[in-house]
Amino acid sequence: MIENDRIYALDYEFNKPQLLKLYDDLAGSQKSWPWHMNNPEGPWSKRGYSVKFLYNIISGRAPRDSVPRFVMDLLEYFSPMGLMSIGFFHTVPNFEYPVHTDQGGVLKGNGPTASLNVILSDEAVPIRFTQDLQIDGPPYEKGPLDFEYEYNAALINTSWPHYIVNGDKERIVFRMAIFPPSDFYQAREGLKSLGH
Ligand SMILES: [Fe+2]
Repeated sequence: MIENDRIYALDYEFNKPQLLKLYDDLAGSQKSWPWHMNNPEGPWSKRGYSVKFLYNIISGRAPRDSVPRFVMDLLEYFSPMGLMSIGFFHTVPNFEYPVHTDQGGVLKGNGPTASLNVILSDEAVPIRFTQDLQIDGPPYEKGPLDFEYEYNAALINTSWPHYIVNGDKERIVFRMAIFPPSDFYQAREGLKSLGH
């Protein structure tokens, strides 16, 4: 069982075939990096529902049937973690995420603070974190003492600088991103309150 300031492994059985079907169904919402070009051949893409879109449903400003029932069930079940977006990341083999936080840098600061990730591809691709928080970054630096974790489903502290080295594997991740005012620690408490 992994639990520290960077990652909290989760004992929850996600319905992976159902999630992979949603991944296929949401193909039309795909945005590829670099986002301003949205190149469908790009090595890194995302698809899913934004936190704003889901919040409009939860607050009654958009119909609940705008998303599949099980998505609303997941949102409700995991609501103790905070406000969330729901979606997927896809990366091609040999793609390397640079070291980053999901907060979007010091200027933006409104990105996700944490993320519940579920690996949907067959083989796990480990996540790496810098040894120190590097609060003066970006830019962030990799180092020989960086942490590496392999997981199936885990809450990730995406406010801690992290990166992925895909190797020769394709990677599909289901992702429930946690937004302020919640953070990794609050989301972890939420999971524990649910018995996970
Ligand atoms: Fe990230």
